[in-house]
Amino acid sequence: MALQRTFSIIKPDATRRNLTGAVTKMLEEAGLRVVASKRIHMTKEQAEGFYGVHRERPFFGDLVAFMTSGPVVVQVLEGEDAVAKNREVMGATNPANADEGTIRKALAESIEANTVHGSDSLENAKIEIDFFFKPEEIVG
Ligand code: TYD
Repeated sequence: MALQRTFSIIKPDATRRNLTGAVTKMLEEAGLRVVASKRIHMTKEQAEGFYGVHRERPFFGDLVAFMTSGPVVVQVLEGEDAVAKNREVMGATNPANADEGTIRKALAESIEANTVHGSDSLENAKIEIDFFFKPEEIVG
């Protein structure tokens, strides 16, 4: 076990439905600590850069449009094995396939409007945290 930091986004479907508290509660109950948090409205350039690995995928344009359709809450989460723990509590990408007790099973609307983002590796967590946060904005 190792203390890690991971990156999370509470997506526009959740901010629109006033679910930022509900999502954060589930993250905290999973053993994750919010050590940085800010509400932003992503620009098209930010969303395209953040999801750059998906640029060639058929859903890329819709994904960028969705992620810029309203405010999001970007967060840094800290905890033992935080990357895997966050992926576990998020649930499968498509809420139809997500396990009971996960955020996406409980709250997500669709494969696109799926409530949360979470880094899929420690390496990507570092890159994603640096994309949105300055070191001094993270208070552990
Ligand atoms: P991905 O990295 O595969 O999933 P996850 O968010 O679980 O790590 O995909 C990134 C986002 O792209 C996903 O959260 C929602 C969107 N997406 C679609 O809209 N349609 C799709 O078919 C897939 C695979 C993803």
